[in-house]
Formats: sequence, structure tokens, C-alpha cells
Amino acid sequence: AASMLAAACDPDSPDADPDPERRLGLRFPDGFRWGAATSAYQIEGAAKEDGRGASIWDTFSHTPGRTRNGDTGDVAADHYHRWASDLDLMKDLGLQTYRFSISWPRVQADGTGKANQRGLDFYRRLVDGLLERGIEPMATLFHWDLPQALQDAGGWENRDVAYRFGDYAAEVFEALGATVPVWLTINEPKTVVQNGYLGGHHAPGLRDASAAYLVAHHLQLAHGLAVRALRASSTARIGPAFNLHPCYPVDDTPEAAAATHLYDGYENRLYLDSVLRGAYPQDVLDDLGPESRMVRGIRDGDLAVISSPVDLVAVQYYTPYYVAPGGRTEMRWPTSEAFWQQIFPDGLFDMLTRITRDYGPIPLTITENGLPCPDELGADGTVDDPGRVEFLRDHFAAAHRAIGAGVPLESYHVWSLMDNFEWAEGYEQRWGLVYVDYPTQRRIPKRSARWYQGVIRDNTV
Ligand code: NOJ
Repeated sequence: AASMLAAACDPDSPDADPDPERRLGLRFPDGFRWGAATSAYQIEGAAKEDGRGASIWDTFSHTPGRTRNGDTGDVAADHYHRWASDLDLMKDLGLQTYRFSISWPRVQADGTGKANQRGLDFYRRLVDGLLERGIEPMATLFHWDLPQALQDAGGWENRDVAYRFGDYAAEVFEALGATVPVWLTINEPKTVVQNGYLGGHHAPGLRDASAAYLVAHHLQLAHGLAVRALRASSTARIGPAFNLHPCYPVDDTPEAAAATHLYDGYENRLYLDSVLRGAYPQDVLDDLGPESRMVRGIRDGDLAVISSPVDLVAVQYYTPYYVAPGGRTEMRWPTSEAFWQQIFPDGLFDMLTRITRDYGPIPLTITENGLPCPDELGADGTVDDPGRVEFLRDHFAAAHRAIGAGVPLESYHVWSLMDNFEWAEGYEQRWGLVYVDYPTQRRIPKRSARWYQGVIRDNTV
């Protein structure tokens, strides 16, 4: 594994491209937009300011043993106080679009009731600041920071929380719906299901398979309720944000093919089919069984809500899966510092073209793609991350190829704008284009950020 890690981020590895900034001569279509992404709990800090309530990630990160080094998002990158200079930095890099998330407990401390004006004001300033700088805001309504009070009421296992989410969305749209042109509902519902309720290494930290897929259904329902809330109040565009994993069989046996198909059902079709086709995949429902809490929890009319028409689908791509008979997975490609990530740019091409093939020409945006590297601030004050440049260059090329194959891809957001709180991994894993020196909160654009600036300027990789 050490040599694989080296291959991904170590410039001395024999597999590293000695010239990662080499131009490939791939020009993107006019109007294609380049950006970066963040999320509220990962960057904002100010966990107790201006009436913000506690979220499940406050609780989880403050529980001993849950995060690396006991790290919490109490301060994070202090973006809540540094938003204006962070926006200047984005403008300097030339970002054309910026994806951020709204913290539900800033807007509703307990997850219900009248909106907290001071919480909304922060996002109003942020959105106005983006627009003033000519950067298109893209806002995610939910990036995992569920108000703790709603968890105390059962969390996403409680169907009522989906309706609370619809009400929260309506409050946010009333305040910001007219100025934010693109909305995303729920970030990576699958990660909540798999990490929050199966693996238990994310908040709320449960390991309960029967709960997990009921949670999946309620997250999908919440998505649909938010879409309907937006239609009632604004002409902005909206869609889901799915982390999708292309699944490949480890060999050409029928056993591997069957296992891969079902795996794909749980990883991809569960989410895509329910929103874009109005039905959960039958093989997954059969596998869960008629007595499962999820299947028993689906009510008449739910799929109609879930499949309320969306304007775009946001794709987050990091890694493929190689599936063996029985559903075990194997590693095939160099991994990154994230134990789960194999570096395989063609997987992005495969996923984008597959969505267009299977679901029609719905507009797509990439809302996350990136690589963690062991970045260090050099004595000369720079951060050299050639592995990230190579990674992004090769994924941009895969996206370009997908556009050439007819995929209506409109924009690309690198994860992440800056180093931040990587959930259970705390601050050790650095994903940013911009280095954050946490003791001073100084921002230092890495080599990848300077390179990206040129890509954006020329709309060419
Ligand atoms: C997906 C998540 O949306 C984001 O919060 C996380 O930091 C990145 N992947 C990297 O793991």
C-alpha cells in the first residue's frame, strides 16, 4: 500500500508524471464553468455563534474516539469570519462557480420553526459577495449537519424529519431562492446511509442495516419535498448531489457479473432510479426483502414526490469499485491517502456517459472530485502538490472526453477549495487547492491552485 500511496502523491514515484502541467490541448466548450466546492461544517467554525444550534457532527466529533486526534469543527478554517477574504481568494483564482452548503442548525437551531435571521444573514452576505465578484453561487441545502434536536427525535429514521427538511428548504428559498441560481438538495445520501448507519464511522455513528435503508428512503423523500418547495417559490434550478461509483466485475464469470449488478444497484441505481425513473430498482428491493423497514416504509405517492422533475444531476466522483462474487470488493489501482480511493480517471468517463445513456440528456454538473495529499508548507512558503495536478488533469481530460461523447456536462467543481475538516479523518487529510495553516489560518494557494487558475483562464487542459 505504501508504494501505491507513493504513486498517487509522491513526485519521486516511478509512476508519477514528471511534467504534470503538460498541456493536453483539450479545450472545453464555451460557457463551461469551473469552480470549487466546500461544505459548512467542514470550513465555517463559529459553532456557537449567532444562534446556531448543535448538529449531529458537533455531538459526534466531541465524542471521544470518533475522529482522528479528537478533531472537531469548532473552528475549522474559520470561514465564518474570513468569508470576505476567502471570496477575494476565489476571485483571484478565477473561479466561475462556487459550491457551498447551508448549515441547517444556523437557520433553524432545533430544526423546526421560524428561521434565525442572523444565520440567514451570513449566507445572504456570502451570496451577495459571490455575485459582486462575478462568481455563480451553487448552494447545497444539507451536507450532513443535521440539527441534534432532530436526531434526538429519531433522525432520518423518523419520516417526519423529511417533512421538517421540506419546511427548512422553504425557509431558505424564501430568503435566498431568487439570488442563488442552482440548488442542490442532499449531499451524498448514500454516505449518510453507508457511513452514518452501516459503518458507523460518521455521525450519527450507528451500525444498523435495517435502519440504514429506511434512512435512504427518507433522504430521497426529503429531496423530493425540497424540489417541490423550490417550485412553489422560485425559478431557480435544483437537483440531487450523488456520489456515484462505477462498478466493474473482477473477472468475466457470471457470478462476478451478477454480484456487480446488485452492487451497482445499492451504489448507484437506488438513488438515480428513484429520482429519475420514479421507481426503486427491483433487484435491490428484492434483496432487502418485503419485510425490511425500508420496503415497509414506502407509502403510496412517495415515489411521485421523490421523482419530482429536477433540472440537473450533480455527480461526485472519486473512485471505482471492483466487485467479486459474493459482493467483496478488490483494489486494482493506486490508492490515495483516503483508504477507500483508487485513482481511475476513466471511471468518471464511464459514469458520465452511462448516466446520459440510461437516463437521457439531463444536464450534469460535477460537484466534487479531488485527491488528498500529504501537503507540506515548504521553507520557501510554497506547497508543491504535483500529484494533485496530475490527478485533476487526468480527470478533466476524462470529463472532456465525455462531453465529446455527447454528455451535457456544464460545470466542474474541484473538492475542495481549501483544506478542511475531513470528517472522521479530522484535519490530517488535506484536500484543498489552497493550503490552510491552521495555527495562523493563513491561506496559501498550492501549486495545483496556480495551475487550475491557468486551466480556467484558457478553458483548456
Ligand atoms: C464527499 C463529501 O461530500 C465531502 O464532504 C468530503 O470531504 C469529500 N467527499 C472527501 O472525502
